[in-house]
Amino acid sequence: MSITAVIGGQWGDEGKGKIVDLLSKDSKIVARYQGGANAGHTVYHGDIKVVLHQIPSGILRKGCHCILGNGMVVDPIGLMEEIEMVQSHGFDTLGQIHIAMNAHIVTPIHKAIDVATEAANNNRIGTTGRGIGPTYVDKYDRVGIRGVDLLDMNCLREKLNAKLDSAIQAGHLPESAKDQLQDQFHQFMDCAEKVASLVSDTFTLIHEFAERGENILIEGAQGTLLDVDHGTYPFVTSSSATSAGISTGLGLPTNKVETIIGILKAYITRVGTGPAPTELFDEDGQKLRDLGQEYGATTGRPRRCGWFDGVAAHYSARVNGLTEVALTKLDILDHFKEIKVCVAYKMDGKEIKNMSEVLHRLEDVQPIYRSFEGWQETTTGIESYSDLPEKTQEYIQFISDFIGVPVKIISTGPGRDEIIHN
Ligand code: GDP
Ligand code: IMO
Ligand code: MG
Repeated sequence: MSITAVIGGQWGDEGKGKIVDLLSKDSKIVARYQGGANAGHTVYHGDIKVVLHQIPSGILRKGCHCILGNGMVVDPIGLMEEIEMVQSHGFDTLGQIHIAMNAHIVTPIHKAIDVATEAANNNRIGTTGRGIGPTYVDKYDRVGIRGVDLLDMNCLREKLNAKLDSAIQAGHLPESAKDQLQDQFHQFMDCAEKVASLVSDTFTLIHEFAERGENILIEGAQGTLLDVDHGTYPFVTSSSATSAGISTGLGLPTNKVETIIGILKAYITRVGTGPAPTELFDEDGQKLRDLGQEYGATTGRPRRCGWFDGVAAHYSARVNGLTEVALTKLDILDHFKEIKVCVAYKMDGKEIKNMSEVLHRLEDVQPIYRSFEGWQETTTGIESYSDLPEKTQEYIQFISDFIGVPVKIISTGPGRDEIIHN
C-alpha cells in the first residue's frame, strides 16, 4: 500500500497538477483535502490543455476515483462547468467524482461577499473571488451549507434564502443583492441538483481502498506559504494547505501517509498581495514571467516572479515533513547566465535562517543570495539525471542539501513525458 501526498511548497502554482497527473497513473484514488475553485491545476493530455479547479488531477485516468474531501469548499456551478469541460475533451467522468457529505458548499452569496469585501478594502488580499474565505467563515461559525444539504432541494432553498437575509442584515451585501443574485440562484439550484448525485460517504471509500492496500494520491492545492496557520498571514488563503490539512480534510490520519512530495518551482512566483522576499522587479523578473508564462490559471493575473527562496523551501520541508521534492520548471532557468538562490534573510543588521522568526515581518527582510553560473543549455528532453549539464546538477544538489530533502523528480516542460526521475 502506498499513500502519497503532493503538496505545494511555495505560494501555489508550482506545477502540482502536472505531477499529480503523472503519478495518478498508478493510483486508484486522487483526493483533494482543502481549498476549492481558487486552485488552477494545469494538466496536459498530449496537446489538450485542461485546467482543473475543483476536480482532482487524476480525472484524465480512466477509472481513477476523484474525491473532493470534507476539507474542501465546493462550488456546484463551477463544478458542473468543469465536468462539462472535461467531458468536452472526450473524457468520461461517470462514476469517478465523489463529493464528501461534510464538504462545505460555496453559493453565489459567498462569492458576492468575497468580491464585495475585496472591493471595499482596495483588494487587500487579492483573492481569486471564488468565495473561499466567506465559505470557510460560515463553516467555522457553524452555519455552513454542506454536501448533505444538497440532498433536499427544499431545505437547500430555505438555507440559501436564510443566508442571503443574514448577509444583508450583517451589512455584508446590499439589499439590492436580492434582485441581483436571482439568476445565479436559479443556476445554483439547477447545478446543486445535478451535483447532489455525486455526494457520498467518501470517508469509507478512501479507508476501504487504503485497507485493501491500493495506491492513493492526495493532491494539495495552493501552497505552504498560503496556509492559514503557517503562511504569510494575513496574505493567505483560508484553508490548511500544508500536509497537516490532510487528516482533517479527508479524515485520513497523517501516519497513513508514507510519502510527502513537496512541489518546488526552480524559482518562485506569487499571485495576489503579500510579501515575497526574492521578488524581482527587474529584467530577470520579467524574463522569468515571459519564459515561464507566469499568468494565473484561474484569474489570468500576471504572477510576481523571483529567485528560488531557500529559506522558504527549508521552512516548507519542515512544516510539511517532506520526504522528497519534485523540482519543476527547471527548463525556464536554461536561459539565464547567472542564477541566484536565497540562502538567508537580513533584517535589522541580523542574518536570519529561520523563516518562522520573521513571517510577521517578511516585508522588512532583504534576501542574501548565493550565485550560480547558468548552464545555458536546453534541459527539456533530457531523460536521465546524469545527462543533465554538470552545472544543473550542482544547482539541484545544492537545493537538496540546503533543505535536507532529496530531489527525486525534475520537471523540464509542461508535458507528461518531460520528466526526470532521480
Ligand atoms: P499548479 O497550480 O501547482 O497545478 O500549477 P499551475 O497549473 O497553476 O501552473 C504551472 C504551469 O507551469 C502550468 O502552465 C503548467 O503546464 C506549467 N508547467 C508545469 N511544469 C512545468 C515545467 O517543468 N516546465 C514548464 N515550462 N512548464 C511547466
Ligand atoms: P493553486 O492550487 C496561487 C492566492 C490568491 C490570494 C490568496 C487568497 O493553483 O496553486 P483566496 O481566493 O484563496 O481567498 O485568495 O491566495 N491563491 C493562490 N495563488 N495558486 C493558487 O492555487 C491559489 N489559490 C489562492 O491569489 O493571494
Ligand atoms: Mg495553479
